Amino acid sequence: MTALPSAPGAPAPAGKKDPPRNWLRDWLPWLDRQGRFSGLRAAAFALTLLPAVLVLYAAWMGQLGSKPWTEAIHRVGIWAVRLLVLSLAISPLRRLLDWNRLIGVRRMLGLSVMAYALGHLGLYCVDMAFDWGLIVSEIARRFYLTIGFVALLGLCALGATSTDRMIRRLGKSWQRLHNLVYPITALALLHFALQSKIDVTEPVLMSGLFVLLLFYRGLYRWKRPVSLPVLAGLALLAGLATALLESGWYALTSGVSPWLVFQANADILSYRDPAAVRPAHWVALAGFAVAAAHAWRAGRARPRRRVAAA
Ligand code: HEM
Repeated sequence: MTALPSAPGAPAPAGKKDPPRNWLRDWLPWLDRQGRFSGLRAAAFALTLLPAVLVLYAAWMGQLGSKPWTEAIHRVGIWAVRLLVLSLAISPLRRLLDWNRLIGVRRMLGLSVMAYALGHLGLYCVDMAFDWGLIVSEIARRFYLTIGFVALLGLCALGATSTDRMIRRLGKSWQRLHNLVYPITALALLHFALQSKIDVTEPVLMSGLFVLLLFYRGLYRWKRPVSLPVLAGLALLAGLATALLESGWYALTSGVSPWLVFQANADILSYRDPAAVRPAHWVALAGFAVAAAHAWRAGRARPRRRVAAA
């Protein structure tokens, strides 16, 4: 959905012309801009297809329960959010891991989010037997559907302006427009949390990861130094923010004592059963993994830089 013009795999910078079009190269997702096979792009493409294959397989095997359309709406919606958060992770990971090629999969992931979100709406329309009057009135009346609809409109606007031509045409305003992906993600996450009746584990997990990604964005925006201790500190902060978010949500929606939920987050004995690990812990662990990978990549790059300087 977003692409940096200077990166490999990204379109030509504003004002410059793209190389002559080659439809085969442009449409085969596993080829890079030079027309060479890219393992990374092939893996990303397989990942974007996987949710559809899983849902279709479950439908084929009759594993979608007594309300298959509703279950399909849920599964497709969850994958749209997962891919959305993953697509937002590309830019920070590219910088933190000094891995420029990652940028070549960002647009593909972003477009897959739009496709799954549209599929989610399509399934909802099927579930409502294409009763357009009812669909429109439900979207207008139910707050969680209204914000889902706004998020979907935003995703479509970003998808429609993701072509090389639109990037060139919009110039600097393109980046400003595509920064809307952050409020759009917040709306999608709120839609997710509001419709989850009692258990908000996954919406909280996705929101915590989103907070971690916002912290990384802040690092570069305010030009803060990036180091292992800083990244580890951000991991802890994001974990804490996730625990607070979870406590606050349960307090607001079900009246459960926020202190009890917060205390549950302090229990590391849950590590014996991965399914019981709180979202805050997963978020902090993800942040620590990024910090360690950053330190490892930086350690490998140092001798190379010294050799180049010599
Ligand atoms: C017009 C737009 C949308 C409509 C009409 C819509 C409709 C729905 C409906 C009916 C549900 C199930 C609610 C229930 O069973 O009580 C749902 C759940 C969900 N939607 Fe949407 N949605 C829209 C947009 C989006 C967008 C843009 C995203 C994400 C990018 C999204 C992600 C989700 C997720 C993650 C769930 C929860 C799945 C679960 O908990 O199992 N939706 N949506």
